[in-house]
Amino acid sequence: MLKILAIMGSPRKGKNNEVLLDNMLQGIQDVSQLIEIEKIYAADVGAVPCSACDACTKRLGCIKNDSINDIFEKYNSADIIILTSPIYFNSISAQLKALIDRNQAIWSSKYALKKSLINRDKKRFGYVICTAGAVDQPFGLSAVVPIMDLFFKSINTEYIGNLFVTNLDEVPVYLNEEKLKEARTAGKKLMEEYNASF
Ligand SMILES: Cc1cc2nc3c(=O)[nH]c(=O)nc-3n(C[C@H](O)[C@H](O)[C@H](O)COP(=O)(O)O)c2cc1C
Repeated sequence: MLKILAIMGSPRKGKNNEVLLDNMLQGIQDVSQLIEIEKIYAADVGAVPCSACDACTKRLGCIKNDSINDIFEKYNSADIIILTSPIYFNSISAQLKALIDRNQAIWSSKYALKKSLINRDKKRFGYVICTAGAVDQPFGLSAVVPIMDLFFKSINTEYIGNLFVTNLDEVPVYLNEEKLKEARTAGKKLMEEYNASF
């Protein structure tokens, strides 16, 4: 069964990011029902920021006492990973960034310990949903792509695409049927691309 891991980077449940995500997941399910979807809320995971303690260069995994090692395993076993984030001060949410930075333990597993926590041969597709309150700004979303790109590289996942939606302070996304349709179409396309990639 195909596994989809969706990570909600907004601390607000049921708002712009989650509505888009749910529509995208609907589009995926319109193509295939043989999928298992797991949604994680970065705010509920409560990942503490990486403190650069360096322990992960000496011992496999992260020594911090939260669920991050279980999340590494979720990345490993997923076939499609969807990240979502609101734009906060032209970057991603702190909740999601804390989670991403903890992937330093994955980096160490590969390059310091030479025993990768991630199966590097498995095919994984990655996708990003990101929302902004303002109308398109110069640099408004430009920080997002390089952050997500490195995240996906760290978990040996092919970064397939983005759904960026702006101007949401004016009209929330649930009132914008066109954007909801776009999200469903993006889900359908992602699933079709994934199926065609074998
Ligand atoms: C702390 C904070 C910082 C924000 N910074 C920006 C920003 O720099 N640019 C922007 O366009 N919107 C900004 N916004 C608006 C959010 O990106 C926007 O409302 C987003 O759609 C919220 O997603 P959500 O409804 O899923 O929580 C900010 C909102 C908050 C709470």
